[in-house]
Amino acid sequence: TLNQQYEDKVRPCIDLIDSLRSLGVEKDLALPAIAVIGDQSSGKSSVLEALSGVALPRGSGIVTRCPLELKMKRKREGEEWHGRIIYKDHEEEIEDPSDVEKKIRQAQDEMAGVGVGICDDLISLEIGSPDVPDLTLIDLPGIARVAVKGQPENIGEQIKRLIRKFITKQETINLVVVPCNVDIATTEALKMAQEVDPEGERTLGILTKPDLVDKGTEETVVNIVHNEIIQLTKGYMIVKCRGQKEIMEQVTLLKCLCGFATIPKLAEKLTLELVLHIEKSLPHLEEQVEAKLTEINAELERYGTGPPEDSVERLYFLIDKVTAFTQDAIKLSC
Ligand code: GDP
Ligand code: NA
Ligand code: MG
Repeated sequence: TLNQQYEDKVRPCIDLIDSLRSLGVEKDLALPAIAVIGDQSSGKSSVLEALSGVALPRGSGIVTRCPLELKMKRKREGEEWHGRIIYKDHEEEIEDPSDVEKKIRQAQDEMAGVGVGICDDLISLEIGSPDVPDLTLIDLPGIARVAVKGQPENIGEQIKRLIRKFITKQETINLVVVPCNVDIATTEALKMAQEVDPEGERTLGILTKPDLVDKGTEETVVNIVHNEIIQLTKGYMIVKCRGQKEIMEQVTLLKCLCGFATIPKLAEKLTLELVLHIEKSLPHLEEQVEAKLTEINAELERYGTGPPEDSVERLYFLIDKVTAFTQDAIKLSC
């Protein structure tokens, strides 16, 4: 069955990468990940919110100001919701899903300063729940064209540099979020993804706000989804999230999703893509680990073994070292 397949394959794969990541392996090698990019207010955070089931900071203007790593862990039916936020030397358990948004805002204020600045450092948010998919995604600040009051002139360039840092890595799947009511051909995020992935092999298009599609342009949107306009190997998906009106009226996430089976479908597709990508990346990852191991072993070899336990052997060990040192010293002074 699908569930069994899931338990057998998806879980171990994602667990492997997550445990490598928590060991800090990412300092030395790139690990498979999914990065979410798009212009400001294209709906990135809304998509993540719908996937994770918790409210994230969102709205108009620059809201996402630091890269946010959203680690979702699917728990067994009946198990309790759990959240944890980690940034800098701060680590905190979150008891209540409705506190998540506030905690992220606090973290951003601390890292990027109160206001409209951005920051390269990662905020990590872990969510464990029976209702989330097993996925790790990275939400990034949206691409802005013009600086607003309080922002440096080159804010657009700063954001693009930050985004490039993530999407350039071969190990990253790039989720490009584009609203249905803008011209996809002029979308900066898609252009950036094409620069680093010209064949579109690790780029997936997400079309948001289908409810806002302009009259007379429906057909174009359909053609885009059918991969007939800008071709991507991984193709496109449409998702509908909560608009401002639905937020004001406090329509719950769940109600909003009813009738739109697209979020579960998106979760399924992303999980599949991530697993495929992990499988594809594993040989390369193994090579890198082997190379690193050889390098470290060689370094270790140079240090030799430490002093032996036995007191007699210890004496000979010391004599050997002193002799070697004396010989080196003589050589140097000759
Ligand atoms: P981000 O800047 O890309 O992270 O975008 P946000 O997720 O913050 O969304 C920007 C605005 O678009 C918010 O006001 C959302 O409520 C709204 N929005 C997101 N998805 C949809 C959608 O499917 N339909 C409508 N009508 N509005 C949406
Ligand atoms: Na926004
Ligand atoms: Mg956002």
